[in-house]
Amino acid sequence: MENGSLSGKTAVVIGASSGIGLSTATLFADAGAKVHAAARRREVIEEGAGERGIFTHALDISDADAVWKLTEEIGESDGIDILAIPAGMNFPERRFEQLTAEKWDQMISVNLSGAFYAVRAALPYLRSSRGLVILISSVSGRWPDASGPAYQASKAGMIELAHAVGFEEHTNGVRCSAVLPGIVDTPILDNRPEPPPKEVRDASLKPDDVAQACLFLATLPPHAYVPELTMIPTQLQALGKTSVATPPT
Ligand SMILES: NC(=O)c1ccc[n+]([C@@H]2O[C@H](COP(=O)([O-])OP(=O)(O)OC[C@H]3O[C@@H](n4cnc5c(N)ncnc54)[C@H](OP(=O)(O)O)[C@@H]3O)[C@@H](O)[C@H]2O)c1
Repeated sequence: MENGSLSGKTAVVIGASSGIGLSTATLFADAGAKVHAAARRREVIEEGAGERGIFTHALDISDADAVWKLTEEIGESDGIDILAIPAGMNFPERRFEQLTAEKWDQMISVNLSGAFYAVRAALPYLRSSRGLVILISSVSGRWPDASGPAYQASKAGMIELAHAVGFEEHTNGVRCSAVLPGIVDTPILDNRPEPPPKEVRDASLKPDDVAQACLFLATLPPHAYVPELTMIPTQLQALGKTSVATPPT
């Protein structure tokens, strides 16, 4: 995508300090968008943000008041054309028998409620701009796998949040897309009970692959709406072959 394809647009990326979010914020800025990038580790986003003109914010997406306040501040000052939410987490103790009410609530509040807070707070600005929401869900929200019931429930919820917002808001010109990546080589994999071996990581999607999908969505004409986009690593996953237990040959 040529530089300048997002010029004049304001993008908010929450979960922009690492992996998919960092790549997306960077790609959007390189495409000419004014990018507001947020995460708890603001200092990490700041490395390299300055020369790209990325505005950085410290934000815990599970803090409803903080999400609302920041979203309104950005919306009032710059408007919001694109809201991308890659913020997400998983923890090693993910088997059903290991889950506690506290762990469940933590997962849902970060991976699902946080997305709701941000999209809801951004709605007036998205209606004004006839804007786009991109929720980074996962194939784990679509089919059973070993990522754990709390993570799977949160990601399935995110898909349906995207669909329902798209259903209600399409006549206002607001699009809400769910992106469902398969395995992506990012630090979140380090939290697996058994992190994948190098050959699996090497064959996995890269953060920039998913960022490119986000840029594709963001540069479609406003009359074209993609409710859901699935992207999986060719040699590892396929519809009907969802596990990556076997390294590629
Ligand atoms: N990697 C995969 O295989 C894969 C596959 C499918 C879907 N996904 C999804 O893709 C998204 C991005 O993950 P990633 O793979 O890029 O992992 P990552 O490198 O670990 O990045 C996760 C990002 O989420 C942010 N985050 C976590 N908790 C947050 C909170 N409470 N408030 C604000 N930001 C928070 C982190 O920032 P701070 O820690 O600085 O707050 C970080 O920027 C996640 O939703 C993940 O579930 C990943």
